[in-house]
Amino acid sequence: MATYDELGATYARTRRPDPRIAAQIDAALGDVTDVINVGAGTGSYEPPRTVLAVEPSRVMIAQRPPGSAPAVQGVAEHLPLRDDATDAVMALLTVHHWTGLAAGIRELRRVARRRVVVLTWDQRIFRERFWLVRDYLPKAAAFDDTRATPAERLIELLGGARQEPVPVPHDCVDGFAAAYWRRPGAYLDPQVRAGISLLAQTGDDAIASGLARLADDLATGRWHARHAELLTRDTIDVGYRLLVADL
Ligand SMILES: C[S@@+](CC[C@H](N)C(=O)[O-])C[C@H]1O[C@@H](n2cnc3c(N)ncnc32)[C@H](O)[C@@H]1O
Repeated sequence: MATYDELGATYARTRRPDPRIAAQIDAALGDVTDVINVGAGTGSYEPPRTVLAVEPSRVMIAQRPPGSAPAVQGVAEHLPLRDDATDAVMALLTVHHWTGLAAGIRELRRVARRRVVVLTWDQRIFRERFWLVRDYLPKAAAFDDTRATPAERLIELLGGARQEPVPVPHDCVDGFAAAYWRRPGAYLDPQVRAGISLLAQTGDDAIASGLARLADDLATGRWHARHAELLTRDTIDVGYRLLVADL
């Protein structure tokens, strides 16, 4: 499987923090004093109280904005940190990339004194509600089935957590998989797809016919006719979830 040293070269072009999602993550972190970001990528959603980022990919670390918290190269499964090193740990849109989920979550809990915040998605809801994978890209949906972890399993590993839906705004700034739910033409742009691991890792061959069908449905107006109700909405819940575990 490709790593972010291969996938991530243009990540920061399309994957910038969305302010509404940032506010939700910040509220979930609450009154903690210091935060370590694991699977930090280019540093999206790091509040000013972030003291360290842990990220395996040099290509991603190189795209962190000047003035970001210091970053060390490392993986969640073996955090180069002492027990109780920080008030809170966050791991955003990353756990599905880990090779050892249970070991990684154990490490987050070892290192955090008070809180662990995980942003993930519920694959059952995502498959049902997100038109792109449901109607056009079944192979991408099948690929996600292999890497998504049910929220219940993550909550168990976290030793209990509350779950908050993360609605996706229609003009979401962070170009993750469902970000363009009301801007369907964006999925035809290779640069947009390069920032979405679901599409980049499923591979162009497996999604080409679905994208051609989408292009056709957009050109004929079929997509807009079918999704008239969607076009009236400002946000959508397609299964993104914030898990907040108090230790
Ligand atoms: C979709 S990006 C998310 C980055 C960032 N958290 C964000 O929200 O933009 C997933 C990140 O997880 C990292 N990653 C992959 N395997 C990892 C592991 N075993 N431990 C920690 N991070 C990992 C990747 O290198 C990549 O930067």
